[in-house]
Amino acid sequence: MDGNGRWATRRGLPRTAGHAAGARAVHRVIEAAARGPIDALTLYAFSSDNWSRPAGEVGNLMDLLERYLVAETDRCIANGVRVSIIGRRDRLRPGLSSTIGQTEALTCEGANLRLRLAIDYSSRDAIALAATQPPCSTGTSRSAFAERLAASCNTTATALDVDLLIRTGGERRLSDFLLWECAYAELVFVDTLWPDFDEDALIEAMRQFRQRERRFGGLEPAHAGNLR
Ligand code: IPE
Ligand code: MG
Repeated sequence: MDGNGRWATRRGLPRTAGHAAGARAVHRVIEAAARGPIDALTLYAFSSDNWSRPAGEVGNLMDLLERYLVAETDRCIANGVRVSIIGRRDRLRPGLSSTIGQTEALTCEGANLRLRLAIDYSSRDAIALAATQPPCSTGTSRSAFAERLAASCNTTATALDVDLLIRTGGERRLSDFLLWECAYAELVFVDTLWPDFDEDALIEAMRQFRQRERRFGGLEPAHAGNLR
């Protein structure tokens, strides 16, 4: 979710206004995802590298995350959205940590959409932590490693392969997001700034996704047939 700051600056507003508008976009996109054919959605809310931003901006983002979770929990329950947070918890302020625990517990029955918010998240740190576990006696399978990876992100939800990754704001990089899970993700980069991202933009990204031919290292069916 990139582009909040630029969205605000272009309007002569403080960056905090961009983050507030970004939170409204989060609300819209979650509602659209819960209505549509999406089973799981992970939003990159705050990376471990975002701690390097000025303390005032970090504090504002933490306030916003906490307020957002408090305000949205009832709607998530009503819409069948199960919320979990991936990332480190030990550096979060106690109020945010306990809000996260409450939101996760209150929404755990949700069956329409599995929503993961990445907060203090670094994919490389998660992979490095998971890799410190001793190997299984038969070696560690990919699925066993995915479970360790989920545990190293402090969630019980096993790390799912990402089908579609959307990055807004015109940058074309992954920025330490779900590196293992994105092994075969289809990447869609859009110039739209995150606060302007809406249901139509989501539908357009899914349209692009459906046009991709996913071969996972194999051959397209026509050629595979010829070689049999
Ligand atoms: C993304 O928007 C929001 C977070 C990192 C929380 P930015 O804050 O990176 O916005 P730009 O890139 O400065 O426009
Ligand atoms: Mg940015």
